[in-house]
Amino acid sequence: MLADEFSELIQARRSVRDFRPDPVPDEVLAAILDDARHAPSWSNTRPYCLAVASGEQLDRLRASYTAAFDASLPLQHLEPIAVAKAALTGGLPDGDFKTWGRYPDDLRPRSMKVGVGLYRHLGIERGDRAARDAQSRRNCEFFGAPSVAWVFVHKKLLPFSAHDAGLMLQTLMLSAKARGVDSCALGVLATWRSPIEAEFVIPARYQLITGLALGYASDNHVNDFRAEHPPITLAEPR
Ligand SMILES: Cc1cc2nc3c(=O)[nH]c(=O)nc-3n(C[C@H](O)[C@H](O)[C@H](O)COP(=O)(O)O)c2cc1C
Repeated sequence: MLADEFSELIQARRSVRDFRPDPVPDEVLAAILDDARHAPSWSNTRPYCLAVASGEQLDRLRASYTAAFDASLPLQHLEPIAVAKAALTGGLPDGDFKTWGRYPDDLRPRSMKVGVGLYRHLGIERGDRAARDAQSRRNCEFFGAPSVAWVFVHKKLLPFSAHDAGLMLQTLMLSAKARGVDSCALGVLATWRSPIEAEFVIPARYQLITGLALGYASDNHVNDFRAEHPPITLAEPR
């Protein structure tokens, strides 16, 4: 493959936030996973595992994740009674990692930029909480994707296991794109572990770090959104 073609493939991959219902054929999924196994990893430990769901199993997961999302809305809105109640009754998100924390001050503007850009693209006003919640909820519907992977990292090899999972995921997403399959990482799914636990046997030493939606982009306007990709930050030489 020419370098130009490789760059083209890399730049063609982007986060898709509305999928057609068409399933990804089993053999295509298998080929993508087969490519992903060639990603490098710390001491070749491959310190991650995936749970991949589609069909009826994915429908059940969609129902569980949207239910968890709906139940968490008062918490997300920081309604004081809801926060106190959730703390007392164990109704807080049960993910292995905190996904709702405030971004570090130097990174916050970057996150704000993509968030504000996406909502503006969708015509959602800053103060329109109902529309924002509805768009957020789409994450927990997996944007209608026909296949979703949940990604777990070995807790005894962090941070390297998380790093290696990232390498594997980008390999997977590029292989998918080369086969016409679009994707969107779904970090928001790491907020809740119990729904995926109900469907797959996940060893306790593996922690849920992100989800990944796979499928075919629809022609919905949301998919015309383009995130910025400024140059990599380079440290100044002394
Ligand atoms: C680990 C990870 C988790 C992500 N989680 C979400 C998510 O929950 N929802 C979402 O819409 N996008 C999610 N994204 C997509 C990013 O917002 C996106 O990659 C970034 O804005 C750059 O845009 P691009 O992927 O279109 O190039 C995630 C990306 C990564 C790498």
